[in-house]
Amino acid sequence: MRVWSIANQKGGVGKTTSVVTLGGLLGERGERVLLVDLDPHGSLTSYFKLDPDSLEHSMYQLFFDDNCKDRDYIGQVIRPTSLPNVHLLPAATSLATLERQVSGQEGMGLVLSRSLAQVWDEYDYALLDTPPILGVLMVNALAACQRLVIPTQTEHLAMKGLERMVHTLQMVMKSQRRQLPYTIVPTMFDRRTSASVITLKEMRQIYRTNLAAEPIPVDTRLRDASHEGVFPHQLGEESRGLRVYRHLLTALDHDVERTSQHA
Ligand SMILES: Nc1ncnc2c1ncn2[C@@H]1O[C@H](COP(=O)(O)OP(=O)(O)O)[C@@H](O)[C@H]1O
Ligand SMILES: [Mg+2]
Repeated sequence: MRVWSIANQKGGVGKTTSVVTLGGLLGERGERVLLVDLDPHGSLTSYFKLDPDSLEHSMYQLFFDDNCKDRDYIGQVIRPTSLPNVHLLPAATSLATLERQVSGQEGMGLVLSRSLAQVWDEYDYALLDTPPILGVLMVNALAACQRLVIPTQTEHLAMKGLERMVHTLQMVMKSQRRQLPYTIVPTMFDRRTSASVITLKEMRQIYRTNLAAEPIPVDTRLRDASHEGVFPHQLGEESRGLRVYRHLLTALDHDVERTSQHA
């Protein structure tokens, strides 16, 4: 299984949209995909019309009673989506209280890794939607993944958030003593506004090798898909945003092969 985290400590940058769109495209080509919601807001969970306020089984319960080692229990947590080969491990809003409950307890950073180990052969990809704070959930995501995708809005204020995210990543890599390849993905790019154009140029100067080749454009079809609770490619129209996400997926897959050859 390939495990990718989609992360940025800033909200509203396109994390959940990227998880859904990339997950859908993987599903379209027949991959078995698990989408994991680690955000207490539960946007990914709500996307598929589940209510994160009232879920009985969710990511939250995996942190208790050794549930993360229980394949049968994890099977109860995982839910279907609008594609048969793409599943969802939902979040509950109770995740917001997790920090307080488990802080200082041994092994809490590895709950997701242990859960994924239980279903390792059942999926080809797991995509992790992460919360905007560096707490126990983000630590779980970073420990479980082999690659990081960092969506960043193409506006000046987002550059600060990006700087912070890359800094966090470097700290975590140091403490875990490993390298985590990452790709910064400029999102909501509007080539008619100078703010977008200038920010993209700045990103290219600063982050060069870690930057996706093409920015994801503003695309209202991505929003339409989220209203309907389906994957963007299921709307039956190849919008501009979807096309760029396809290119991004090809590049990410290619990059994995390249880095594993070097390993
Ligand atoms: N490329 C895009 N074009 C237009 N709207 C987008 C695009 N990407 C995301 N959005 C919209 O922007 C909002 C925030 O995106 P979301 O993926 O929820 O961000 P995050 O998960 O980082 O908080 C959502 O309403 C989403 O539909
Ligand atoms: Mg989100």
